[in-house]
Amino acid sequence: MSGFPAPFLEVLRRADEVVAFTGAGMSAESGVPTFRGDGGLWQKFRPEELANVGAFLRNPVLVWEWYEHRRTVLAGVSPHPGHRALAAMEAIFPRVTVVTQNVDNLHRRAGSTRVLELHGNIERNYCIRCGARYDGADVPVRDRVPSCTAGAAGAACGGLIRPDVVWFGEPLPEEEWEAGVRAIGRADLCLLVGTSGVVYPAASLPALAQRQGAYTVEINPEPTPFTDSADLVLRQPAGIALPAILDAARAARSLHPPSPSPTPHTP
Ligand code: OAD
Repeated sequence: MSGFPAPFLEVLRRADEVVAFTGAGMSAESGVPTFRGDGGLWQKFRPEELANVGAFLRNPVLVWEWYEHRRTVLAGVSPHPGHRALAAMEAIFPRVTVVTQNVDNLHRRAGSTRVLELHGNIERNYCIRCGARYDGADVPVRDRVPSCTAGAAGAACGGLIRPDVVWFGEPLPEEEWEAGVRAIGRADLCLLVGTSGVVYPAASLPALAQRQGAYTVEINPEPTPFTDSADLVLRQPAGIALPAILDAARAARSLHPPSPSPTPHTP
């Protein structure tokens, strides 16, 4: 017995499309700090000094060091059972999409294959002058400033290299956003995991999911702006709630498999 309400079990049994909309709380149990709340990054650091393009142009060394620090933290962490449960759902539901605000790459590392990163990815970087891309640790740094080496020897671009993340005041990557909106529009089930729901436009997606008829489940130890309208609220950490949902989905679909879609009849 899962203890989940019957309408949710029925959604788990029949759902074709599942979207997990995730935020920093999704990675908290891996040891990645969230942004808000106790110990959140924005309590210790000032976003206006670190997470906008003006700050980067004024002080690239400071911004770069902050991202290097975050990369170092991420190099020492691993996906937790909640990330792995989402990846395992791909074997159960016909289509599972993770729409994430996280830049930490943990969903992919856990094995999720359809991941839309609305706020970019901290492992990627690009030159703000010529657009050349630099991934992972492969970033040329001169005098502590990451400087682009694209171009002929002696005439290297020299532009500043920045992390491929979305900073305050910047638009979201168009393709990822549009794919996210489409996935949310088709979803039968939308899991809202570990996000405070205060940063737009990403935070508009749960309401869209509900308008389009998805059953929405909030997974968060704390209340959020989504709490009142969610169909189900699980006041649990992601690493507990998601494996429980995975187990319940397996049980619901093996005991009562969804009816196969009608196949064309050949005479
Ligand atoms: P926040 O730090 O604002 O919120 C984290 C949420 O996770 C809170 O609601 C917590 O209650 C919840 N939480 C904490 N531990 C959890 C756990 N183990 N399981 C489930 N939930 C847990 O993070 P985001 O909502 O992701 O943007 O923040 C949105 C954006 O604000 C980020 O992408 C970043 C930040 O500024 C940019 O940098 C553009």
